[in-house]
Amino acid sequence: MQRTLAIVKPDGVSRSLIGEVIKRQEASGLKIVAAKLVRMTLAQAEGFYAVHRDKPFFGSLTAFMSSGPALVMVLEGDDAIARWRELMGATNYKEAAPGTIRADFATDIERNVVHGSDAPETAAFEIGYFFNCFELVG
Ligand code: RTP
Ligand code: MG
Repeated sequence: MQRTLAIVKPDGVSRSLIGEVIKRQEASGLKIVAAKLVRMTLAQAEGFYAVHRDKPFFGSLTAFMSSGPALVMVLEGDDAIARWRELMGATNYKEAAPGTIRADFATDIERNVVHGSDAPETAAFEIGYFFNCFELVG
């Protein structure tokens, strides 16, 4: 059993893609064990994406992620990290496999609808960033 942090980013929430994303998560057998809508401050987005602070897109990314509500979720299942990233597709939607969320809905390399942790260590940090142990069900 593994857990991963999933986010429907502000572009996905504002375009009413929450249901579409959750439908795909549920269809794949990933279990939602925590979920909430958050409007991140710029500082909170900077903390979340601190690993990218030296990248040229850091300012734009953190402004985008704090621009409106996002749905943050914890998904649980065997190999949940890789399975959720497979459903998301590649970061650049132009390279994302057909049928993935980013291939179907992303409009831009930055506005790519969803986030997923990329390793067990980052999943632990990211889940703890948004949820305490009492908020994880099951
Ligand atoms: P995420 O962390 O959001 O799940 O996405 P990821 O692992 O597929 O991609 P990552 O390299 O971690 O990048 C984080 C987010 O930054 C934006 N980005 N913009 N302008 C650019 O070249 C660029 N590259 C990345 C995307 O929103 C990406 O998801
Ligand atoms: Mg990433």
